[in-house]
Amino acid sequence: MNGMNMSLKIIGTGKGIPARHVSNKDLASFFDVDDDWIVSRTGIKKRHICTDETITDLSAAAALQAIEKSGLTPSGIDLIICSTIGGDFRTPSLACCVLGRIGAKCPAFDINAACTGFIYALKVASGFLSAGDAKNILIVSAEMMSAQVDWNDRSTSVLFGDGAAACVVANGGALRYINLLATENTSILNIPVDTGNSPFVSRKRERGYVQMQGREIFKFAVNTVENEIKHALNALKMPLEQINWFILHQANRRIIDSVRTKLHQPQEKFPVNIDRYGNLSSVSIPLLLFEMQEECKIKPGDTLFLAAFGAGLTAGSCVVVWE
Ligand code: UT7
Repeated sequence: MNGMNMSLKIIGTGKGIPARHVSNKDLASFFDVDDDWIVSRTGIKKRHICTDETITDLSAAAALQAIEKSGLTPSGIDLIICSTIGGDFRTPSLACCVLGRIGAKCPAFDINAACTGFIYALKVASGFLSAGDAKNILIVSAEMMSAQVDWNDRSTSVLFGDGAAACVVANGGALRYINLLATENTSILNIPVDTGNSPFVSRKRERGYVQMQGREIFKFAVNTVENEIKHALNALKMPLEQINWFILHQANRRIIDSVRTKLHQPQEKFPVNIDRYGNLSSVSIPLLLFEMQEECKIKPGDTLFLAAFGAGLTAGSCVVVWE
């Protein structure tokens, strides 16, 4: 799905990261992991993991920072969208928890498109803005992946981290293109939900942890991102060289490098944070936007290509000309 009828610009960003960081070497005290393997196969050197922070704590910190940087107060927010695979409760939504914590008064709901959640949230927000149904929308992406992985499984537990990132979006012409994709393939990547204690259930299912066929996702990611870039450039009649920044989901440094090599683009155009945070699911991209803004890397007029992929399988991309 892609549409040209859209209105959106990002007016503020924020982050909420747990205090405790855990290096690859720290993990060696829990199980047989190899620092060299993790760095060379993924690019990850450390990740932040929740100790006493909740997902709502991280989300509210990111939200308040994004709102302040937008020159607004929580009363100026008229919609909250959280992208997450699960907040502190199955219900109420994380968005309602954030709303209460920051003292906003507006509609609030979650969306789950796995690692692609932030791109989906931008599309939903753009719809509300174009329709005149909201003026300032808070988007928060937040995950506690440490609660979703099996800490006895070194092949998945070393990959992920915890954190939140937020942005406030308003009407504007920055969003030039957005495309969303989804297919059904639960076997490649999933986290099973238990069937509870119903006496009627005939096929009982236990609560599970992240199950992933890493190599399949890897191939899907590289092919999809490359195709998405081609589609976006074609739709916009834009040369590849016009893109200043390729802001990709941070699942594996080698995925980013493969895309970059295929496109013959310089490394500086592909910002990374996977080395410091691991895979943060839908948080990776808004966190990169926050960091790039803080470091004054993104300048007005810069063209950004954003792309994410994840469970579903889902994928999404967009082109933003920074205002
Ligand atoms: O966020 C969106 C969803 N996720 C992704 O996009 C992930 C995409 N996929 C990947 O990033 C990579 O496929 C992984 C990082 C998950 C795995 O890398 P790989 O190069 O595909 O390695 P592998 O799973 O095939 O494992 C290779 C070896 C295995 O040993 P054997 O069977 O060859 O003897 C593993 O046991 O590496 C071993 N291994 C480890 N060794 C030391 C796996 N995990 C570890 C570890 N430390 N932590």
